Amino acid sequence: MAKFNHKDLLGMQQLSVEDIRHILDTAESFKEISTRDIKKVPTLRGKSVVNFFYEPSTRTKTSFEMAAKRLSADTVSLSASGSSMVKGETLIDTARNLQAMNPDLIVLRHSSSGAPHLLAKEVEAGIINAGDGINEHPTQALLDLFTIREKKGRIKGMKIAIIGDISHSRVARSNIIGLIKMGAEVTVSGPPTMIPMDIDKLGVRVVHDPVEAVKEEDVVMLLRIQLERQNKVLFPGLREYASFFGLSGEVMKGAKDDVIVMHPGPMNRGVEITSDVADGPYSVILDQVTNGVAVRMAVLYLLIGGSKE
Ligand code: CP
Repeated sequence: MAKFNHKDLLGMQQLSVEDIRHILDTAESFKEISTRDIKKVPTLRGKSVVNFFYEPSTRTKTSFEMAAKRLSADTVSLSASGSSMVKGETLIDTARNLQAMNPDLIVLRHSSSGAPHLLAKEVEAGIINAGDGINEHPTQALLDLFTIREKKGRIKGMKIAIIGDISHSRVARSNIIGLIKMGAEVTVSGPPTMIPMDIDKLGVRVVHDPVEAVKEEDVVMLLRIQLERQNKVLFPGLREYASFFGLSGEVMKGAKDDVIVMHPGPMNRGVEITSDVADGPYSVILDQVTNGVAVRMAVLYLLIGGSKE
């Protein structure tokens, strides 16, 4: 049986091809549990997971909580506004105090890139990066890889266009690293001001015009404009962005008949994607959310319940 020898999940960078395959295969076996009448197995009974979210989240926070509960782990949720951080306590002190209560895992979302890496060195509990600044969002990339494999049968050789604010997107970064590792061909698209100058060093193709970028692709992945992470506005206005870089039914006319459209959420309808595409026949956006629970069950299980060497 394959081993998963990691204390933490900090990024796609640290995972080997075998690790990624092991997580996806484990998620596949867990997915069925969420379709049962009684959606619970005793796999992580007696383990405890702290969900520590410094930034807002709908999908990731709920999904980790459901994943832990479906595996019978005890869960506690903490937000920045509800913690003693508002009284001036530092991140490290907060983490040390959480550690004093002996959790098995801390799931951390933070606006600063590298915050989970810092905590991983400070505490004995495993740390899962649930999104750190503009750095990585590994479980989002894993659920995206799972969805591509589920819908297309494989990842290797698949052509994937990622369109939007590549510079500020931790989802884009984690997906590019994971997809390239698994043998996919990645194209990035969007305004030149939102694509890093040296992105080609990651092994991706750059095509600024989305009409050109979606042709011949098996998967089109949209990203939200991360206005909260931009120091200055990098485009004239939302209307201009939508008309030049938004994915509309018109742009999709140039795509393959069996293309799938993905979006990590939250979506800005009418900006990066029109409603006819978001809710249309190519969209697998809600399948991504469903798969997120299975993938997070797999990650929790492999970090604190699976076999290690
Ligand atoms: N995709 C994602 O991370 O969504 P949330 O911000 O709602 O968790």
